[in-house]
Amino acid sequence: MKVGFFQFAPKFGEIQHNLNAILKAIEEFSGDLLVFPELAFSGYQFVGKAEVEELAQDAGSSRVFQTIQEALHGRSLHVVLGFAERADGCLYNSAMLLGPRGPIGTYRKTHLFFEETFWFAPGNTGFQVWDIGVAKIGLMVCFDWFYPESARTLALKGADILCHPSNLVLPYCPDAMVTRCLENGVFAVTANRIGLEERGGKSPLRFIGMSEIVAPNGRILYRAQESDSQLYGCDIDVTQARKKRINPYNDLLKDRQPQWYKW
Ligand code: ACM
Repeated sequence: MKVGFFQFAPKFGEIQHNLNAILKAIEEFSGDLLVFPELAFSGYQFVGKAEVEELAQDAGSSRVFQTIQEALHGRSLHVVLGFAERADGCLYNSAMLLGPRGPIGTYRKTHLFFEETFWFAPGNTGFQVWDIGVAKIGLMVCFDWFYPESARTLALKGADILCHPSNLVLPYCPDAMVTRCLENGVFAVTANRIGLEERGGKSPLRFIGMSEIVAPNGRILYRAQESDSQLYGCDIDVTQARKKRINPYNDLLKDRQPQWYKW
C-alpha cells in the first residue's frame, strides 16, 4: 500500500484557504492513506477561547468535511485530518479518519500541550484503531508522542500504522518516533506543519516540519525538510507490522510483563 503526508503551513483563521490546499493535495495524491497536520483548517496559536469556538467544526455536520467527503468519492484513498472539534458543549483537538464511504472515526487528543490546555478539553475517546481493509489505523495527535503509552496502546489494539497529525515546535519528536516504531513494531506517519505563527503579542511559534514515515524496524523511510511544503508518498509492506517476533525466543508484545508495570 502507499502512504503519505502533506506538510504545509495553514494560514491562521483562513479555513477556506486551508481547505483549498488540502483538497489540492487530495486530488494530486495517488495512494491509499494520506495524513494531514494537526489543526489543519484553523491554524494553531489561538489567543482566546472565542476564537477556537468560531473556527471549530462539528464532526457530523461541518461543510468542510462534506467537501472532503465529496473529494474522496469514487477513490480508494483514506485521509486523516487534524481539526478543532466542537462537540457536546466542549472543544477538542481532534483527528478524523475518512474514507470513500464517509467518516470512519474521530480521535480526541489525550495529552494537551502548553496553552492548548486553556482552550481544549482532554480527549475522552481513548486511543482507537480502525480497520480500513488494507491496514489497521491507529490515531494519535502531536504531543501524544511524549507519552509512550499512546503508541503502545494503539499497538496492543492491533494498529499497523500510527497516523500522527502534528504541529511540532520542540525538536525531539522526529527522532523519538524511531523508538516508538521500533518498540511497538509499527509504521508511523507523522504529518507536521511548517511556518511561523505570532499572534496577539505572544512568543512566536516556529513549526519544525520534518514530517516523516518510519518503519517497524525503526528505519526512517523518508523525512521532509524543515521549512518546505511537501506532498509525499511511499510504498510500505504492511505485513512487516504484523511480525512481532524479534528472534526465535522473543515476541515483542507477548513477552510484556504487565504485572510488573504497576506502581
Ligand atoms: C503539540 O502537541 N502541538 C506540540
